[in-house]
Amino acid sequence: MAVVLSGIQPSGNLHLGNYFGAVQQYLEFIARGDRCYYFLANYHAMTSLRDRAKLLELTRSTAADYIAMGLDPETCAIYRQSDLPEVCELQWVLTTLTPMGLLERCHAYKDKIAQGLSADHGLFAYPVLQAADILIVRANWVPVGQDQKQHIEVARDIALRFNNTYGEVLAVPEPYIRADVAVVPGRDGRKMSKSYGNTIELFAPEKELKSQIYSIVTDSSTLAEPKDPDRSNLYAILKLFSTADEQAAWSARFRAGGLGYGDVKKAILDKFMDRFGAARRRRAELEMQPDLIESVLRAGAEKARAVGVPLVRQVREAVGIPNS
Ligand code: ADP
Ligand code: TRP
Repeated sequence: MAVVLSGIQPSGNLHLGNYFGAVQQYLEFIARGDRCYYFLANYHAMTSLRDRAKLLELTRSTAADYIAMGLDPETCAIYRQSDLPEVCELQWVLTTLTPMGLLERCHAYKDKIAQGLSADHGLFAYPVLQAADILIVRANWVPVGQDQKQHIEVARDIALRFNNTYGEVLAVPEPYIRADVAVVPGRDGRKMSKSYGNTIELFAPEKELKSQIYSIVTDSSTLAEPKDPDRSNLYAILKLFSTADEQAAWSARFRAGGLGYGDVKKAILDKFMDRFGAARRRRAELEMQPDLIESVLRAGAEKARAVGVPLVRQVREAVGIPNS
């Protein structure tokens, strides 16, 4: 049985990129019967969110999103990163084995510096905390989108350095990235991301959801003109929801001409509701059950602590820090 771990920063609302790139794969690992840890990276979120009330609220609401999406608290552990604060201790140990150059090459930090912005130490050290999240439960697989590949490689590199220095204590993780959904495009054709404001949110109120879908950017070709599906962002989003047969049929309609973009947007909205309608109803019910969410998070923390705390003791033992 494999150990699987992944996390999402509670810094915004869950969107289609999170679903197709990550959460869909979380569900597959649960269905396979693997031991799964899915957490809310609230310490990580602090690198971009500096509003106490918002951080608390988004942590709670992202937990509700996870549960509504079908992550079953009976068969996986759903927890707040901060309920296993030992990750911060492990992070420190790992930083002592992490070359500066490895972190200087990481995109989030590099991009900020390239834009002429000043980065803080939290953003620089972000990948080391992420490595600690992964290594603390001895994860074998980390399901993520393409943008996180580099971070998983950093975690592998640090785990190998630790084992070479102190003996085989840590499991070396592998990223799990599904090629067809590695980068889900946003409404403007760039990667869908909270930070680009181009998302389609899984739990947006219906009116807002409609306006997000209807604002997917299209070209200015006329209705009659044949359209190339492979150059259409609208098609790329529709494709996420479609079977191979449906893709072939839509592709033919694009190429034939006479297809209005409004029809495609309507089809996306219908598909979206088919796929997420039940989750949206569960999400609305959970909104009325804050105690249930809290109890799921506490039970999840127990499960994560049951492996994480002993792992950190083992690391202390290996490096020469007394376990009191
Ligand atoms: P965001 O970029 O919106 O801040 P997160 O960083 O919280 O999203 O991502 C959480 C998970 O969702 C990660 O595994 C990430 O790789 C995945 N993910 C986010 N956006 C996309 C996307 N557009 N395509 C594929 N996967 C994505
Ligand atoms: N950095 C990830 C993101 O922005 C979130 C994250 C934190 C994570 N720790 C993790 C993902 C550990 C996978 C494993 O999406």
